[in-house]
Amino acid sequence: MNDMTPTSAERAEKLQGMGCKRKRVEDIRFVQGKGNYVDDIKLPGMLYGDFTRSPHAHARVKKIDTTKAAAVPGVVAVITAETLKTVNLAWMPTLAGDVQMVLADGKVLFQNQEVAFVIAEDRYTAADAAELVAVEYEALPCNVDPLKAMSADAAVIREDIKDKKEGAHGPRKHYNHVFNWQAGDKAKADDAFTKADVTIKEMIVYPRVHPCPLETCQCVASFDKIKGELTLWGTFQAPHVIRTVGSLISKIPEHKIHVIAPDIGGGFGNKVGAYPGYICAIVASIVTGRPVKWVEDRIENLSTTAFARDFYMETEIAATKDGKVTGLRCYTVADHGAFDACANATKWPAGLFSIISGSYDFPAAHVSVDGVYTNKAPGGVAYRCSFRVTEAAYAIERAMDIMAQKLKMDPAEFRMKNLIRREQFPYTSAFGWVYDSGDYQTALKKAMETVGYKQLREEQKKRQEAFKRGETRELMGIGVAFFTEIVGAGPSRNCDILGIAMFDSAEIRIHPTGSGICRLGTKSQGQGHETTYAQIIATELGIAADNITVEEGNTDTAPYGLGTYGSRSTPVSGAATAMACRKIKAKAQMIAAYMLEVHDDDLEWDVDRFRVKGNPERFKTMTELAWAAYHEVPPGMEPGLEAINYYDPPNFTYPFGAYICVMDVDVDTGSSKVRRFYALDDCGTRINPMIIEGQIHGGLTEAFGIAMGQEIHYDEDGNVTTASLMDYFLPTAVETPKWETDWTTTPSPHHPIGAKGVGESPNVGGVPCFSNAVNDAFAFLGSTNIAMPHDNWRTWTAAEKLGLHR
Ligand code: CDP
Repeated sequence: MNDMTPTSAERAEKLQGMGCKRKRVEDIRFVQGKGNYVDDIKLPGMLYGDFTRSPHAHARVKKIDTTKAAAVPGVVAVITAETLKTVNLAWMPTLAGDVQMVLADGKVLFQNQEVAFVIAEDRYTAADAAELVAVEYEALPCNVDPLKAMSADAAVIREDIKDKKEGAHGPRKHYNHVFNWQAGDKAKADDAFTKADVTIKEMIVYPRVHPCPLETCQCVASFDKIKGELTLWGTFQAPHVIRTVGSLISKIPEHKIHVIAPDIGGGFGNKVGAYPGYICAIVASIVTGRPVKWVEDRIENLSTTAFARDFYMETEIAATKDGKVTGLRCYTVADHGAFDACANATKWPAGLFSIISGSYDFPAAHVSVDGVYTNKAPGGVAYRCSFRVTEAAYAIERAMDIMAQKLKMDPAEFRMKNLIRREQFPYTSAFGWVYDSGDYQTALKKAMETVGYKQLREEQKKRQEAFKRGETRELMGIGVAFFTEIVGAGPSRNCDILGIAMFDSAEIRIHPTGSGICRLGTKSQGQGHETTYAQIIATELGIAADNITVEEGNTDTAPYGLGTYGSRSTPVSGAATAMACRKIKAKAQMIAAYMLEVHDDDLEWDVDRFRVKGNPERFKTMTELAWAAYHEVPPGMEPGLEAINYYDPPNFTYPFGAYICVMDVDVDTGSSKVRRFYALDDCGTRINPMIIEGQIHGGLTEAFGIAMGQEIHYDEDGNVTTASLMDYFLPTAVETPKWETDWTTTPSPHHPIGAKGVGESPNVGGVPCFSNAVNDAFAFLGSTNIAMPHDNWRTWTAAEKLGLHR
């Protein structure tokens, strides 16, 4: 070896593997406006579809007259439920085991529900003609309050299942009841409450919100009558699931359906499910013989496709008087809207809500969730969340603050006392989840020290005294949140969608010259997968990340996968990628041994090559081995260098974090200013620290939006009052606070590279942290539970209720 020979460390750095802040390769096209989104797709002869929608939240549809609309020049066809019935598609199955109207069939059940689909030569003609579809409605009493959904005189929402005593998730106790789902040990939890020194019980409400991606939901359907084949381009977070569900619904054989998800401009759960727009575009293409595009507008997106949350969580904690938690109970009413179209794994009608015991060592716990129907849009997706984990984290983190207040303990100190201790991992929660790894106390301690927690509390005390003396009208709130996520759905024993186990996959082909391609069943919507999967391969195989193409979103080329949502890509497909690499590496080792004329076991791996143990001058690089794989394999060995892995994870991963927010709240205007927000995350092994930071910035911004202003609000008549960005708060750079990010690293013991998911964490931890800060500002005045969203009006109202304006 001469001085010019790069060292192992230098060679490793060049690979841009795991741990490297590699720049996002996809940004080269995005920043130049060269992304390829669904709306960029233009096919010869393409038609455009648009919906006629219901102005009523609940009404009988007496008559639909399409004559005027059909007569508009440029209109090619108008589809109603009657048309869909001829192909048996007036209703479609939902991911949650319910059925959903594609177009209004006899009744409308929520405002803006799809009633007719107009197909025209251009989008504007379709939109104009959609307004000419004459619908005669007879308004019905409506209900948008989930807490009244099961009362004796509540309006019957689902006449189709009114008398059904059994739903997809067990017995139904009312005509507006979807399911009851329970977890934990009720008797043990009740006993803890009987024996408790101190208890709290609060209704903690997580309002209905919406993921609101910048790009709305859209598709292009092109049916080839000669081949009997359907090609569907769309904003799909889970392309293979769309193909399978599409085949089951349409009866088109699955091999004749090609689903392509091109670049996606944000998903956040909104683009997981199947929507009437997709079905109508497919049917329209079959009927007209031409490709049909459907693109949602903003109002349609906010008011009809996939909301999130809408959980009413009556949460109770039992504790000893010195502040040790002994029990947890939560009874939740979940508003599912008019159809149960929740995107959850089949066995979990309330998702992974039983992570509600959070990061604390609760000896006993029980949850019970009743899902109900209301006259609201269907959905219930994990908006930057892993299946209701966000709701659970919000409930427990608010409740922990309320209990600390009752115990007159500092909220951080109370948490520290109850956090699961490092030596307890793997830790089995009272709900049976096995938390893989964690070091919670270290994380919280680091967070508190970094922000100067003790000094902040002293400053707050002084501010409170000054406020009492009338010297200031500004209060100071310190929000603390400690969260544990459960991500990486998931182990097949726990998780399936419509019977398909929630594994995921990666297929890697190394080309003769040593570069390669990796195809996956996940689908990036902005997370930077093209960058990070290549980094895993770089470290595993010693091939520079720049020499690996990552391809997702084409069901014809990618191995079957369940898609990207709930931070599952790294825990599941990241693992599949590493495992596929290991198969390739094992073969490469045999080729190297053959070429170097040594036994396999005499070789050792060194960054990008196999070398002979004790004789490092004798080696074969991965580039040489790739070439050899195509012309010099050992006798009897199959040529080529590729592998596929389907990964069924043995467990979820449990990322965690400690967040602290410092906020100033003006009691006279209700306005609040985030002075400081510190987020410490632990997502195990970090693949790309820069992308992680970006994920956390984005997630915190969404958390800020949710906590401080987002709500999909309905008036008593079921009108959506927040269906545009004039009314629905989407934070921009102007409102967004500055984020301070930090980390600890506790690898997952069961993941091949020790990585846990991260994308959802900042939303899970961020929302309670903001909310706790607002609540903390008022806590010294005896206030316990100011509800989200904490916009100026609501905060002002909270101050008013406390008599602060007199
Ligand atoms: O499923 P989704 O991609 O939304 O979430 P994720 O698995 O948490 O990954 C989000 C992004 O962060 C991806 O580009 C990951 O590769 C990256 N990441 C990372 O660099 N290190 C981790 N330990 C986890 C995620």
